[in-house]
Amino acid sequence: MQSEEAMWQATDYGDAGYWDARYKTEKGGAPFDWYRSYAALRPFLRHFVPTSSRVLMLGCGNSLMSEDMVKDGYTEIVNVDISSVVIDMMKQRHDHIPQLTYVQMDVRDMRLFSDRSFDCIVDKGTLDALLCGTNALQAASQMLGEVNRVLKQSGIYMLITYGAPSVRVQNLKQAGPSWKITLYILSSSRVEEEINGLSSSAELTMEPVPLTENGQLPAGFVIEDLESHFIYVCEKMPELS
Ligand SMILES: C[S@@+](CC[C@H](N)C(=O)[O-])C[C@H]1O[C@@H](n2cnc3c(N)ncnc32)[C@H](O)[C@@H]1O
Repeated sequence: MQSEEAMWQATDYGDAGYWDARYKTEKGGAPFDWYRSYAALRPFLRHFVPTSSRVLMLGCGNSLMSEDMVKDGYTEIVNVDISSVVIDMMKQRHDHIPQLTYVQMDVRDMRLFSDRSFDCIVDKGTLDALLCGTNALQAASQMLGEVNRVLKQSGIYMLITYGAPSVRVQNLKQAGPSWKITLYILSSSRVEEEINGLSSSAELTMEPVPLTENGQLPAGFVIEDLESHFIYVCEKMPELS
C-alpha cells in the first residue's frame, strides 16, 4: 500500500490550476473536509482559541470547518484560498453568514492583511499542499513567514497535517520565529468517535506528546497508527533581540 506521504508527492498540490480544475469538477461542489472534520478538532480549537478570536483559515477549500466553527460560536473567520473557483463557490454558499468572509489569495503573499492582525491561524492541509509543489521549501518558508507576520504575539498557528515532527518541526523552524510547539496525535480511531458523535463531549483525551528539546519525538516513541494526523499547536513567542 502507498503511504500517505507518497500519495501526496505524486500530485502537484501546490499548483493553483490543479485546484481550480478539481473544484470545477468535483462532486457538484459538495463540501469536503481533508483529514478530519471540525467534530474531531473541536476540543483542540475550543481549548486554545476563544470564540471571540479573529481567525484566519488558510487554504479553506470547500471544507465545512469554518461553517461549523461559526455554528459553535466563533464570531470572525477570514477564509483564503488560491482557487478563485472555490472562493466564488464559498462566497455564494455563505453569503448569509456575516461571520465568514472569503478572499482569493496566495498564502505566500498576504499583504492585504496588516501585521499582527489575527489571534489564530488554522491550516488543515495547506502547508502540506505547498510542500508538494514546485520550489516547495521556498514556498513553505514564504507562507510561514507571512503566518508569523499577520499573527499577533502569543497568537496560535494550528497546523493539522500528515507530517511527523521529523519533517514538520524543521519546516516550522526554517521560517524564523520561535514557536512554542505542543503536539497532539490524532489516531484514525477518532474518526469513529466522530461518526458516533462522541467527540463533542469532554470524554476525548487531549494528551500532548512530549517533544525533545529539538522538537522531536522521544527516542523509542512509536506511532502505532500510520493513518494518524498531527496537530501542532504553535504559540508565537516574542522574538529574541
Ligand atoms: C488539501 S486542501 C485543504 C482544504 C481545506 N483546508 C480542508 O481541510 O479541507 C489544500 C487547499 O489549499 C489551497 N492552496 C494550495 N496552494 C495555495 C496557496 N499558495 N495559497 C492559498 N491556498 C492554497 C488549495 O486550493 C486547497 O483548497
